Amino acid sequence: EWTMPHYIDEAVAHIREQVGDEEVILGLSGGVDSSVAAALLQRAIGAQLTCIFVDNGLLRLNEAEQVMEMFAGNLGVKVDHVDASEKFLSELAGVSDPEAKRKIIGREFVHVFQDEAERMPNAKWLAQGTIYPDVIESAGSKTKKAHTIKSHHNVGGLPDTLHLKLLEPLRDLFKDEVRELGVALGLPREMVYRHPFPGPGLGVRILGEVKKEYADLLRRADAIFIDELRASGWYDKTSQAFVVFLPVKSVGVMGDGRTYEWVVALRAVETQDFMTAHWAELPHALLAKVSNRIINEVRGINRVVYDVSGKPPATIEWE
Ligand code: XMP
Repeated sequence: EWTMPHYIDEAVAHIREQVGDEEVILGLSGGVDSSVAAALLQRAIGAQLTCIFVDNGLLRLNEAEQVMEMFAGNLGVKVDHVDASEKFLSELAGVSDPEAKRKIIGREFVHVFQDEAERMPNAKWLAQGTIYPDVIESAGSKTKKAHTIKSHHNVGGLPDTLHLKLLEPLRDLFKDEVRELGVALGLPREMVYRHPFPGPGLGVRILGEVKKEYADLLRRADAIFIDELRASGWYDKTSQAFVVFLPVKSVGVMGDGRTYEWVVALRAVETQDFMTAHWAELPHALLAKVSNRIINEVRGINRVVYDVSGKPPATIEWE
């Protein structure tokens, strides 16, 4: 009979057999797949594993701290935490085209990762959190390419020049099995059932040119929205929810004074496959609370709007 503990034993044995006494590196993003892969590898060959976690300056509020606390702290994983935020932000300065931004973020990630990997000359394996749907998708990518609307840069795009053997311990699993495995390995449910977060991060949620000032405001607004979704039980009823920063100022009034500050949009969708999506019918009282909190707590934002566009014709992200 198939059980998760049994599956873990088998997977661990298989990884040990494959890897022997060689060293493994893994790009840890904090997303579900790379997190579960890290936890599984830690269980199997912990002493031989080093994770590389790149802070690109486009992560959510306290995300780097949380990833470090969970993996380096609780699980005892060796994590190389690279703060490359200044480099990413300086490469992005002056660039407002969405695809150009994606390319820069993808390219910088590869540079940073490669530099770090070169400092680990004993590493023989590159582990990735590839899951079964990714395997099918890339098998069909020749025909899919023509239909790609947005170029996606995930950890998957690392070059062969690293000369590492590929280790993909999750490649037989579907997403819900990956989540179950994560919980069985001791990862917190909130982490394993988190909404997806795009590889380019806040880079595609700040419309147009990315600036640190915008990213800092967006991080705080987004944390408030997610906080209230969790508190109201709506987080698990939506497939993805986030705040988008609009580089537009509008007039407001606060006390006796006039304000002229930034606008943010709330986006929350329900979807099965992320190919089509409906905007979530969040209760007005919840929207009101989120709006009040953002405007009161985040100095610099004086207007909040709700996105009521379906996919298609809109996409889930705004860029
Ligand atoms: P769209 O905006 O195309 O998004 O409706 C569909 C899903 O894909 C995610 N997304 C990305 N994920 N790199 C990623 O890793 C990207 O460049 C990217 N763009 C969109 C989006 O968050 C949604 O879940």
